[in-house]
Amino acid sequence: MAPVPWWRSAVIYQIYPRSFADSPGGRGVGDLDGIRRHLDHLTWLGVDAVWLSPFYRSPMADFGYDVSDHCDVDPIFGTLADADRLIAEAHARGLRVVVDWVANHTSDRHPWFVDARSSRDSEHRNWYVWRDPAPGGGPPNNWRAAFGTDVPAWTFDEASGQYYLHLFLPEQPDLNWSEPAVEQAMHDVIRFWLDRGVDGFRADAIHAIGKDPALADDPPGSAGLPRSSTNDDPATHGHLRALRRLLDGYPGDRVVVGEVYLLDTAKVATYYGDGDELHLAFNFPPLYTPWEASAWHQRLDEAERHLAPAGWPTWVLSNHDNPRPRTRYGSEDRARAAAVLLLTLQGTPFLYAGDELGLEDAVVPPERALDPGGRDGCRAPLPWTAAPGHGWHAEPWLPWPPDPKRRNVDSLRADPSSIMHLYRRLLAARRASPALERGAMQRLASPDGLVAWTRSEGDDVRAVAVNFTGAERALTLPGDWAIEVSSDGRHEGRPWPSRLGPDTAVVLRRR
Ligand code: NOJ
Repeated sequence: MAPVPWWRSAVIYQIYPRSFADSPGGRGVGDLDGIRRHLDHLTWLGVDAVWLSPFYRSPMADFGYDVSDHCDVDPIFGTLADADRLIAEAHARGLRVVVDWVANHTSDRHPWFVDARSSRDSEHRNWYVWRDPAPGGGPPNNWRAAFGTDVPAWTFDEASGQYYLHLFLPEQPDLNWSEPAVEQAMHDVIRFWLDRGVDGFRADAIHAIGKDPALADDPPGSAGLPRSSTNDDPATHGHLRALRRLLDGYPGDRVVVGEVYLLDTAKVATYYGDGDELHLAFNFPPLYTPWEASAWHQRLDEAERHLAPAGWPTWVLSNHDNPRPRTRYGSEDRARAAAVLLLTLQGTPFLYAGDELGLEDAVVPPERALDPGGRDGCRAPLPWTAAPGHGWHAEPWLPWPPDPKRRNVDSLRADPSSIMHLYRRLLAARRASPALERGAMQRLASPDGLVAWTRSEGDDVRAVAVNFTGAERALTLPGDWAIEVSSDGRHEGRPWPSRLGPDTAVVLRRR
């Protein structure tokens, strides 16, 4: 039997470099050396891999998702030598490193775009998507950009007299993937980082790289929605197959996980291809699901029906684009139960740095707001210590999340009942259990307000139950079980009493 690839049983920890940790002499913006200095936290916690959001050269219109040089580190974050050292030290600790690959667009200051806009005959003109104004004037079609409301996905370039396409900010022009030189150049970026030793890529907005060649108007049903949340062109699949061949041709076990921001699990599943496209695809509907058992049953139905047959599922409850679980669900109890959910469903979980502290989003007053997409709250800096400054070397770029004196890595590490210890116990339980890491999943009949399932691999079996209600609930399971991990930390090691407290979750093992 072929060995299981590492990313099927891994827990991948997302770091947003600006917000994780700065280094001595730092300016309150996190950097690569800050991450390296805190790798011990990740090994203590017990994750398997890190995904680093972009640290490449960038004018920072979208805080790094507007790349002006894919093969260099922005001076804010350090140097290529810092990246090499971080990769090497992570590997020395047994941590894999996944980096972001922003393939749909570049910065408007990228030399390719600077050349493209310099004249209609420039070498790179066709690397981007240019069109004449519509016959009566105005943008070539009705596509809307992400961020802001009702912003056209086109900006007019006075000098060359045409519009260019941008599914995100005007500072993020879309690359034209139907131009073969674009694909080659973006493959060179992949090779550059693979040669530096990274274990894989998180492919930004990857469902958007192929475009309808006719650039037809969005139909009435989706007109007005950002095109970046509906773009689903067949051309993308060919590009993904080529990308997959490139990755699989490299020695080692390299992964590409795609951000497929289509809020429809059946569509997400198509991006696994016939096992020849993405290794993993983010599936976002669960992230937008309220804390309700019936809604979660539906999400699990969809994952079973569409993702499991297509490939290995992923689970994402948090990232740098959305309010944190503690903020969305409204209490630490629920955030704890959500940790159990995230780390025990069948698939590869992605854990966003700071969720292990149970952080809430920062309250960002309008005068300190920075992000054009209104996402500052979940990007607040991680507090490391209780002391003023919380382990940072200068006032951070965004305000602290609530209660940093208590909710910081040092203080929570000193408190065995903290949410951070819960994460650690869950990660340890996963690592010790083939069933939890990679086993089959079967949902169990459960009363209203509960979701319960088993995971099994050979004779290793676990049961998991989550109570989505604010009241105690009874749950009878066939057989004899003991509590291995409970979200409130109570009764671990004791026999399962067939009752689950309000907004709590448990992992059970056979007695
Ligand atoms: C998705 C990223 O997660 C988000 O932060 C970014 O703004 C857009 N893609 C554009 O790159």
